[in-house]
Amino acid sequence: MNARDPLSDAWSLLGGERARFDAGLLDALHPQRRYLTEIERATYRGGKKLRPLLLLLSARMCSAQEDAPLPAKAVQAAVSLEMLHTATLIHDDIIDEAAQRRGAPSTAAARGTKTAILIGDLQFVQAIRVFAASVETQRDMQLVNHVLDVGFKLCCGELDELDIDPTRSIDELRMRYFRTIDRKTATLFGFACEAGATLADAGERTIYAISQFGWNVGRAFQIMDDVLDFVHPEALAGKGAHADLLAQRMTLPIILALPEFEPDHVLHCVVRGESTDAESIAAAARAVTDSAGLMRAYALARSYTILAIGQLNLVPAGPHRDAAEAIAYHVVDRPFLASPNQPAADRAVA
Ligand code: IPE
Ligand code: IPE
Ligand code: MG
Ligand code: MG
Repeated sequence: MNARDPLSDAWSLLGGERARFDAGLLDALHPQRRYLTEIERATYRGGKKLRPLLLLLSARMCSAQEDAPLPAKAVQAAVSLEMLHTATLIHDDIIDEAAQRRGAPSTAAARGTKTAILIGDLQFVQAIRVFAASVETQRDMQLVNHVLDVGFKLCCGELDELDIDPTRSIDELRMRYFRTIDRKTATLFGFACEAGATLADAGERTIYAISQFGWNVGRAFQIMDDVLDFVHPEALAGKGAHADLLAQRMTLPIILALPEFEPDHVLHCVVRGESTDAESIAAAARAVTDSAGLMRAYALARSYTILAIGQLNLVPAGPHRDAAEAIAYHVVDRPFLASPNQPAADRAVA
């Protein structure tokens, strides 16, 4: 078993806030209890809870009263973002036809597409309801508009990803990739940090710096998720192996690897959708894994981590800032530290 990881350390630092978050999540799920099964309850139990963690940590970094519990509205907002994230995953698994999520069957695989669409919708709506219910001030109210923008962009990002055209130039593919990951992932990370700081009454400059921290961590995080599709795929992530290649997703490691191979190479054939058999997928995955493109994608993820950490200079120093920095590094170090033989469930923080 690995030593404690920075995510568990950060939760420990937050002390009783984790119990408040868990209780808040149970309350938020209560109105839909007759529609949820063990599949969704397991989905909620699993996962790293990274977005609520970043929100609460941001609130704590900015909070004037170090020992007082965080405002209830910050805990509610953390619950809301975990639900929003879970909604996107339930729908993402329909789109990707993914059998597994967080090491267990996805809602789509276990209960069918129709049910999964509506269960995902319920999570979206309930997430926003929970957020709106926590509003206390005019300034908080602006966050409700922002969370709606985040939901909107998330859906745009998921839609953009479906627009596959492998004949595009590498530059265009790259530009589209970053636009997509900003919408589907980085915006939510940035917002988690912005909401935490705002709800803890931070000043505007600090809020901006923290949200930029989150946004850069989010970019690094999605690039690493895409790298993970090639590095210890199934064991580490608790999802299907080479899911991105199978779905012809133009992720950064693939985009950066493509120019290294001739147009008739199996990687190009898989990306164009001409080869879909398991042998070709495995050969294409090996090509990406052995390419310089994979390491260049990894290097870019690290560069966003460094940018993120630079933003923390504007945030009050202390153990919570150190914990945020450790999480940022963990995002890019994780795949190269974890043992591929360790079951995903053992590594889950929740
Ligand atoms: C998965 O996010 C979706 C991406 C943005 C890559 P996480 O890796 O945070 O998923 P869970 O919540 O821990 O399952
Ligand atoms: C997207 O990313 C999930 C959302 C942000 C909605 P992925 O499609 O890469 O997520 P996984 O790999 O299925 O977890
Ligand atoms: Mg997916
Ligand atoms: Mg992925």
